[in-house]
Amino acid sequence: MTQALKGVRILDFTHVQSGPTCTQLLAWFGADVIKVERPGVGDITRGQLQDIPKVDSLYFTMLNHNKRSITLDTKNPTGKEVLTRLIEECDVLVENFGPGVLDRMGFPWEKIHAINPRMIVASIKGFGPGPYEDCKVYENVAQCTGGSASTTGFRDGVPLVTGAQIGDSGTGLHLALGIVAALFQRTMTGQGQKVTCAMQDGVLNLCRVKLRDQQRLDHGPLKEYSQYGEGVPFGDAVPRAANDSGGGQPGRILKCKGWESDPNAYIYFITQAPVWEPICDIIGEPTWKSDPDYATPAVRLPKLNAIFARIEQWTMTKTKFEAMEILNKYDIPCGPILSMKEIAEDQSLRATGTVVEVDHPTRGKYLSVGNPIKLSASPTDVVRSPLLGEHTEEVLRKVLNFSDEKLAAIKASGAIGQAPAAAAE
Ligand code: COA
Repeated sequence: MTQALKGVRILDFTHVQSGPTCTQLLAWFGADVIKVERPGVGDITRGQLQDIPKVDSLYFTMLNHNKRSITLDTKNPTGKEVLTRLIEECDVLVENFGPGVLDRMGFPWEKIHAINPRMIVASIKGFGPGPYEDCKVYENVAQCTGGSASTTGFRDGVPLVTGAQIGDSGTGLHLALGIVAALFQRTMTGQGQKVTCAMQDGVLNLCRVKLRDQQRLDHGPLKEYSQYGEGVPFGDAVPRAANDSGGGQPGRILKCKGWESDPNAYIYFITQAPVWEPICDIIGEPTWKSDPDYATPAVRLPKLNAIFARIEQWTMTKTKFEAMEILNKYDIPCGPILSMKEIAEDQSLRATGTVVEVDHPTRGKYLSVGNPIKLSASPTDVVRSPLLGEHTEEVLRKVLNFSDEKLAAIKASGAIGQAPAAAAE
């Protein structure tokens, strides 16, 4: 079976997490992703958070599957010649360098477009044009500037960042969509274009419901927020709402049996209006079904704390999995709080390829998250990440058609990592 992006060649200048997430997705859909790394150094994450000395870190391996790695010094004159040839042969250049790096390398958009008018140049930066456009950005900075941190956490606590990497991986996902859209447009125009995604914008897009609530505040209190029922007045900005549901159906995280010793013995419980009656029966409050103080969503809003406290009395008598089983019979939306250990051991996630075991030549076997996007006619086979420069010769010979002599000259120049003899002395 062929793959959706077969025939698309990506020149991958990404590093750390945001860009690599994007190019890994493209590789999983079948694109030939050629990752360009600095000779002798490589993507900085190869050596970060290492659990096994001198072995590519899980940080790196889990973000760079299905790619080829070449080493190339793009500041070396011969390296620039090789890069020019790569631009001619590839469809998309993806980068998440700091602001201005590509220009300083001598490859601004205008030059790339002149070399290969069909090339799409896709970039992630921390911020879009404006006062912060020159700033370097990492995950948590984006979470803070994109509206996530100010709306995450408890009302009386400090702003919180979330473990989900919405700034890095989230923006990588956004960029991948932009690239695929630009590739589609190219089939009609024959022209490449610039695709940019700022991490602040990507996070804000994921915090869309909070900008919704900011505007709703102009028209009165946010009645589905716990603080409404607690009688705490709202200020002029969307507050942190702890585990309140972000939607129109109130929800909370509730304790389950074993919570005293198990930090993850909890369930998320949503009191969706259409299943209010079965909820009342299950928790042992059948009169709430017709009681005018409880029967409609609107009258329940000021009493959510008391209602969830009553539901919790019931959930505390069940394990999170027992509660899930009982509630699902009545289509009551809920979900156990799963630890990473439980997810790693979940056989159904293994069966779908969402969690995969990968073998690596120096690390051995490890677990990774496979492709979460399933295409029925483009299956994903997760292939281990490349070693630094593993495919340099292969790419130079087979993609760029360089001869033995040309390859020897490039090696002698130091552009792919081997120091010239004179310099080595
Ligand atoms: N050959 C030669 N030089 C190379 C090279 C190669 N193959 N690859 C990179 N370099 C050089 C660049 O030219 C640059 O040099 P310069 O500053 O002299 O122009 C240098 O490496 C560093 O690039 P930079 O991207 O600024 O790295 P950094 O480690 O200083 O900063 C980030 C890291 C992530 C903060 C920064 O890249 C950034 O803000 N990226 C955009 C936002 C982003 O994606 N952030 C999240 C990352 S998960």
